Amino acid sequence: MLLEGRRTLITGASSGIGKATAERFGAEGALVCVNYFSDKEKPDAQAVCAGLDPSGARAFAFQADVGDEQQVTAMIAAVVDRFGGIDVLVNNAGIEKQVATLEMPLEMWNAVLRTNLTGAFLCLREAGKHMVAQKRGVIVNMSSVHEFIPWPGFAHYCASKGGMKLLTQTVARELAAQGVRCLNVAPGAIATPINDFVLDDAEAKHQVEEEIPLGRFGQPEEIAGAVAWAASDQAAYVTGTTLVVDGGMSTYPRFI
Ligand code: NAI
Ligand code: BGC
Repeated sequence: MLLEGRRTLITGASSGIGKATAERFGAEGALVCVNYFSDKEKPDAQAVCAGLDPSGARAFAFQADVGDEQQVTAMIAAVVDRFGGIDVLVNNAGIEKQVATLEMPLEMWNAVLRTNLTGAFLCLREAGKHMVAQKRGVIVNMSSVHEFIPWPGFAHYCASKGGMKLLTQTVARELAAQGVRCLNVAPGAIATPINDFVLDDAEAKHQVEEEIPLGRFGQPEEIAGAVAWAASDQAAYVTGTTLVVDGGMSTYPRFI
């Protein structure tokens, strides 16, 4: 097993890629904290935990808004209290909403940056302190192909994922000598709730599929496998970089 006994936290893990990652981590022997956002996601988060370990010893759900400093501090403290430390953090929580840049309300810009980028910063800052103290740890940030592919209508989202690229590289430099790795996993188009606006529209779905050499949306489990590897000792020499898992989307297949 790739993650036997590793003490892990996955943010936004009640659905999609986060949920699949929690399930994969559990199957790889990890202890898992399943973060969820609000009461609405609570039953799904609890179901993920029940699927991992009905006794509650190896998995528990914790509600926190990753953009809230106090809630993040409490969440990391809860993981350390429950598991005795934290070895792996997966900054997965993220949101997006299509709007032309010139029409974008400041609240919407702030909301996306707050969750996707500030949330990742707060979680890695608090978890990183424990990792440095124990001289071991891995931070995996869920980026996107949009850390390098511009996406009209999603300037806030692209700014958050582009920011995550240099956040990750900088943190990797700062913490490498202290035994902590930090890297990004960058998915392409994956079949999760964040993409319902495309998946529910046959024509839009077809257009996206045409941008993918492998001709299909990825499945959350295909990202979870990459995250499990990235978090494991098999990736011990990997830090400060981005692992792209996109069916070839970033080869720009429509460019001829
Ligand atoms: P999703 O919508 O199923 O998952 C996002 C999760 O983040 C949800 O569980 C949501 O409750 C949680 N969340 C939102 N705001 C939060 C907050 N303030 N605090 C804590 N949790 C919060 O969608 P998906 O696809 O699983 O997204 C996961 C990550 O993967 C996101 O960061 C997204 O940007 C990224 N991603 C997704 C791709 C896709 O095609 N599905 C492609 C590239 C990246
Ligand atoms: C977005 C998805 C999109 C994918 C490829 C991801 O970052 O969350 O909505 O399908 O990038 O464009």
